[in-house]
Amino acid sequence: MTSSSEEALAHSTSEASLARSKERSAQIDIAITEDPSRFRILTGDRPTGHLHLGHYFGTLRNRVLLQNRGVDTWVLVADYQVITDRDGVGPIRERVINLVADYIAAGIDPERSTIFNHSAIPALNQLLLPFLSLVTESELHRNPTVKSELEATNGRAMSGLMLTYPVHQAADILFCKANLVPVGQDQLPHLEQARLIAQRFDKRYGRADASRPVFPRPEALLSEVPLLLGTDGTKMSKSRGNTIELGMSADETAKILKKAKTDAERHISYDPLNRPEVSNLLMLASLASGEDPHVIAEQIGDKGAGALKMYVTDALNAMLAPMRERRAELIAHEDYLLSVLRAGNDRANEQANATLAEVRQAMQMNY
Ligand code: TRP
Repeated sequence: MTSSSEEALAHSTSEASLARSKERSAQIDIAITEDPSRFRILTGDRPTGHLHLGHYFGTLRNRVLLQNRGVDTWVLVADYQVITDRDGVGPIRERVINLVADYIAAGIDPERSTIFNHSAIPALNQLLLPFLSLVTESELHRNPTVKSELEATNGRAMSGLMLTYPVHQAADILFCKANLVPVGQDQLPHLEQARLIAQRFDKRYGRADASRPVFPRPEALLSEVPLLLGTDGTKMSKSRGNTIELGMSADETAKILKKAKTDAERHISYDPLNRPEVSNLLMLASLASGEDPHVIAEQIGDKGAGALKMYVTDALNAMLAPMRERRAELIAHEDYLLSVLRAGNDRANEQANATLAEVRQAMQMNY
């Protein structure tokens, strides 16, 4: 491996590289409008609990928009990724079924899109073996996202899977030959890793016809989403109890927002730097209503934090109401949710088997 590719991996979240990724994402967005059939997207989530607004505004809403613009959309329930940094899987079955319900309620259409899960796709997982031979240990140790995830586990030892899951994630993306991955900034190192693996595979086992690589070079599609905070002004996370889950009731939503942290100044203004908590509530209201956060702030003005919280509550509950209704109905029909997942897994297995056959052939292991 060349030192320049190691650097590319380590610096894939640097400012210059982030700016490039954003610029590239804008170009891709135009290309999608011109011809959505050129793209296949793959994204995924770890089934570790219920989806919340951070997931929705961060990626889920964007996936639905891409699907509706005509892009072939693959959504992965990353059940094997759950065991990277913890001992057990928790109530995994319920979580997986809930995640499928969240997806469909949010607008992922199982007729057009493919929803599937890791543990049901053997050929996807088998790609991990040849892919692992294409990365170095030092490269794995240098991945900044894995590093910060390990730090967040408070002294837990790095498991073999934790160290190598970015390679497994490359298999997620490459098995279905996705060329576009709509993700947040934290996933950029993983995407760089996937590109390096695709490149190295073709270099090592390349077909005679170099114009037909086995794998595409997947690109990130960064969506323009501001960093959302939890209702207490700290990082949004389920364990802090500062999130609003898609499946919560309108009353639970109102209760959480009532307790939301604000500041001592009565006049409401949008100023993310100096007034992070108030601005975060304004941003939530803006994302839910489509209104500019400055305009909302002006409307509320001297009516203070109580009025702001009421505004956010109404805007979020109005936006979430139809989703919640669909979700409740879906959860009552577990058989349907399982049938969606099975149909998605059938499609994913077909694709994974075809890709593995190509890989075997390239590696001359097709006996
Ligand atoms: N690592 C992602 C997360 O924690 C989930 C994920 C798994 C993923 N496989 C993926 C995202 C493939 C994009 C592409 O959120």
